[in-house]
Amino acid sequence: MDDLIRMTERAQDVKKREDMHIVIVGHVDHGKSTVIGRLLADNNMLPDGKIEQIKEKCRRNSKPFEYAFLLDALKDEQSQGITIDTARTFFSTDKRNYIVLDAPGHVEFLKNMVTGAARAQAALMVVDANEGIMENSKRHGYLLSMLGVKQIAVLVNKMDIVGYSKERFDGIVSEYGEFLKSIGITPSAFIPVSGMCGDNIVNKDAQNIPWYKGNTVMEQLEAFESGGESENLDLRMPVQGVYKFTGNNDTRRIIAGTIEAGKLKVGDNIVLYPSGKRTKVASIEAYNSDPITEVTAGTATGFTMTEQIYAQRGDVVVKDGEDVPEVSDRIIANVFWLGKESLATGKKYIVKLGTAKVNAKIVAVNKVLDASTLKNIQKNEIARNEVGECEIVFDKKVAFDTVDKNAALSRFVIISDYEICGGGIVTGTPAVGGGNITLDRLAVDQSQRMLASRQKGAVLWFTGLSGSGKSTIGDKLDARLNAMGYASYRLDGDNLRFGLNKDCDFTPEGRNENLRRAAEVAKLFMDAGMITLCTFISPSEDMRKMVRDIIGQDCSIIYTKASCEECIKRDPKGLYKKALEGKIKGFTGVDSPYDEPVDADIVIDTESVLPDEAVDLVLNYMSENGIIY
Ligand code: ADX
Repeated sequence: MDDLIRMTERAQDVKKREDMHIVIVGHVDHGKSTVIGRLLADNNMLPDGKIEQIKEKCRRNSKPFEYAFLLDALKDEQSQGITIDTARTFFSTDKRNYIVLDAPGHVEFLKNMVTGAARAQAALMVVDANEGIMENSKRHGYLLSMLGVKQIAVLVNKMDIVGYSKERFDGIVSEYGEFLKSIGITPSAFIPVSGMCGDNIVNKDAQNIPWYKGNTVMEQLEAFESGGESENLDLRMPVQGVYKFTGNNDTRRIIAGTIEAGKLKVGDNIVLYPSGKRTKVASIEAYNSDPITEVTAGTATGFTMTEQIYAQRGDVVVKDGEDVPEVSDRIIANVFWLGKESLATGKKYIVKLGTAKVNAKIVAVNKVLDASTLKNIQKNEIARNEVGECEIVFDKKVAFDTVDKNAALSRFVIISDYEICGGGIVTGTPAVGGGNITLDRLAVDQSQRMLASRQKGAVLWFTGLSGSGKSTIGDKLDARLNAMGYASYRLDGDNLRFGLNKDCDFTPEGRNENLRRAAEVAKLFMDAGMITLCTFISPSEDMRKMVRDIIGQDCSIIYTKASCEECIKRDPKGLYKKALEGKIKGFTGVDSPYDEPVDADIVIDTESVLPDEAVDLVLNYMSENGIIY
């Protein structure tokens, strides 16, 4: 029982303390694992007898004991607050919980940096005093600077091997310091250490290194600043997902995501980018805890809005009146590339920028940098392990920050064939096509058209009661497709009936002929390569079968579902009122039947799905089915 209480207390302690993510980098064999092993051992984080146990094992195998072995031995161990998995070590002090992200190989390094370690607040760079600065030491330095990790301590390791030579240490400080300075990094500290002997890791070494008066590694870790800084920046919350309440007629949405910077309070006026739509925070959702009114940087959260505006994954929530993010479909970026095939002009990729995921094309490679010499190489592709600057165009506008403003919102990864094969940071937007333009005000520009013009002629046939949302969704879809550069056209009951189908009434025969002609016209548009959006009540199964037969396999039926009561409530044209008063005869849903489709390709319940969400559903369907690509 006592154990249980102690465990709970410890768990609560761990929760109370702040987290700090540290990334540790260094050339192979320069001693990262030994440093981590020492940090654990000398902080008394190891289970009793663990070291003795490993020493004994080493003795039996006639191997010298190394602290690096500790890490292997501790994998899966979960006691005294230490957990170790392949790339991360957790330990805590009175002040905070440390998550040390190890970067064993280059690919893992990249993945850690752009995914898990994206929030690394500080870095330890291990350099071997004996071997000195290696190419990797420079590359890692460069990558850290690119990723905007500002707090860096350089550990000059294996000082024991160089006889604790101050001269050797000073040589590395000046050589590496100069290199780091050239890439914009001023290390918080250079620390002479020996992971093997434990000098200056946790315990100060006055005996071997009397000439060093600065912090030990542990003191330096404790001196690093965590999150506080990003709390004071302008609010940035990339939307991870939008969730609906399940109750009937509850149209509220929960906008979920992690606050990357700033604070979010109930009552805040907020703007969502790239749309530029405004609303107010109604509540902050808290699970299993007292209601909260404010959340700060580093917190995963969810909030509801006073007015239900359209939001989707990839949007960025910003506070009204604060600095606006960049909104653009073109970026200038520094990219580091790991793909087998070079990153090259004209190639297409997927880019994940914040929580947004977009199709992307490389428009130009401006320069390629040799990461170790920092010299520019002139060529138009970035090969594996190279770093370069390029211009990238997306198939839609995205909200983000440039690295100088907010590093977290500037990071992205590049995906090719389902694999992360590069990463980078946005440094700016090109003069043409960039800037703070919201989608609403954007005319389709030629490059977007070129990027997106690949489409297959198809018919999307919307069926549903009058007022169920066919035209609203069809219109918005048409606008979105056009904004993305696709060629689409809409045929609608109301407009066709003014001309071509003027002679068709609303008897079953009249409707049949109306729909037959509409389907024939749609087929012609489709053959001409158009994405043809048809919005007709098309009330019976037979009529819809006829439509499918005329158009063929590239016809998709979309059912906009809403109850008759709801449509009567909406009554956008006032026709239900008239029909109910008997002024219009044979009105669908009132005194003429509507058969629900049995084989619709998409069913959209417009009583719970917002119009823009419906557009997303249809767009997803279109790209999954190769209509747009
Ligand atoms: S369909 O049944 O032949 O597919 P269609 O979509 O072309 O109908 O036209 C429906 C539109 O015509 C409605 O949105 C409404 O504005 C108008 N309308 C006029 N009379 C009727 C009626 N009796 N029934 C349904 N819609 C009608």
